[in-house]
Amino acid sequence: MHVKNSFLLLFFAAVSIYNGGCDMQSQNNNRISINTGSNEITGGGCEDCELMFAGMPETITEEHTGRGWVEGSRKLMLTGTVFKRDGRTPAKDVLIYYWHTDDNGVYIPDQNTPAEAERHGRLRGWIKTDETGRYTIRTSRPAAYPGESVPQHIHLSVKEPELKDPYYIDLYFDDDPFYIPHRKKYGRADRGGTEILRVVLDGNIQIAEHNIILGLNIPDYPKLPEDKIKSGLEIGEDQPSFIPYHAYGPNKGTRACPVCTYGRHHGILLFAGNKTDRNEIKAWLKFLEKESIERGEHLKVYFVFGNSENYDFSSRKKDLEELGEELGIKKTAITFVPSFDDTESEAYLNKINPDAENTIIIYKHRVIVDKYVNLSPVKENFELIREVLEKTRGEYFELPTPPHD
Ligand SMILES: [Fe+2]
Repeated sequence: MHVKNSFLLLFFAAVSIYNGGCDMQSQNNNRISINTGSNEITGGGCEDCELMFAGMPETITEEHTGRGWVEGSRKLMLTGTVFKRDGRTPAKDVLIYYWHTDDNGVYIPDQNTPAEAERHGRLRGWIKTDETGRYTIRTSRPAAYPGESVPQHIHLSVKEPELKDPYYIDLYFDDDPFYIPHRKKYGRADRGGTEILRVVLDGNIQIAEHNIILGLNIPDYPKLPEDKIKSGLEIGEDQPSFIPYHAYGPNKGTRACPVCTYGRHHGILLFAGNKTDRNEIKAWLKFLEKESIERGEHLKVYFVFGNSENYDFSSRKKDLEELGEELGIKKTAITFVPSFDDTESEAYLNKINPDAENTIIIYKHRVIVDKYVNLSPVKENFELIREVLEKTRGEYFELPTPPHD
C-alpha cells in the first residue's frame, strides 16, 4: 500500500496526529526511521522502529497479557507460531512488540508509557518466542480511528536474533467492514504471511490464531536456497478463491469455489498439470478421499487438473467423470481448469507451475499451512500428510466464527 500523492500523505499525517501519532506504516512514506537512507535494510525500515525498545521489560516470555485484556470491551487473544522462512521450522528468541488503539480507536498513553513512546498509547507489549516458536498476546480488539475508514489494525515490530534491524507487520480483521474497501484501494502487503486475522469465539473472547512466517514478503530479507522446482503460493499466505469446473463429486456440474464453500476447517488442493502420471494421481485421490471421509466436515479435498495440452472442455469433463467413477469418489471434488494461467476461473492466482508433477496445498481457515511439490504417493508421504493435518489443527479448530457484516 503506497500513498500515491502528497495530498494523501498530508491526509494520513493529519489522521496520525489526531490518533496519537501512529501512522499506518504501509501507507506512509515520510517515516522517521533510524534506517532512512539505506535501501539494504531488511523490511525497508519502519517508522518508529526504535520505539519497540522504549520501556521494554528485562524479562519477556512467549505470553503477554496487556492492559487491553482488563479494560477493553472486546477481549482478543492473538496466538500462533512464529516460523522461519521455510514456513515449517519454529523460530525461537524472536522479539515481537505490539501496539494498537483502544476501544475508542485512539492511542492514549498512561503513567507507564515512556514519554518517547506516547504516540503508541498504553496498549502495547512484548513477547519473545521460546524454542517451540509459540506466542500468545492477550489484549483487546482495537477500534477503528474515529470518523475514519481506516480498518481496525494491530501493529507489530519483529526483531529476529540474527538480524540487525526490526521490521513491521500490520494485521487487520476479515470481519471488519472497512477492510475490503481498504484492500481494494491499497492492495495487501501480507508481510510475514497473510495480513488478515480471522477470529473464532470462545464465549466472549475473540481468538485470532495467526502464524508468522519470518521474512515472507519482507523486502531485502536474506534469501532461501531456491527450490528445485517452484510451484504454488507460500506457506502463511491466504488460499485465494477461484472457480474450477466440477466434473465429478458432490458439486458436479457447478463451479463451486473451494475456499469459499469449505474454507473454515482443513482443505487440500491437489493440482496436477502437464506432466502428470495418471496412476500417481489415482493413488493420491484414493488416499485423500479416504482421509476426507474419515475426517468428515473437517477436511475437504479438491483435485484440480490443469493440463493445457490438447485441452477441450467436453473431452476433459468426460475423462474426469470416468476417473471419478472408476475410483468410486463420493466426497472429493474432481475439478479442472483450461490451464493454470487461466484468468476466467482465476486459477492463475494459485501460481501453479504446470510442469510440476503435482502441487499439494494444505490450508486451514483459508490460510496455507503447508505445501509440497512433486510428492510421490507412497506410504511415508501419506503419513506425512496425516501428520500435517494433526499438527496444524490447533486448539481452536472446532470453535465457531462470528457472523460477518
Ligand atoms: Fe495505527
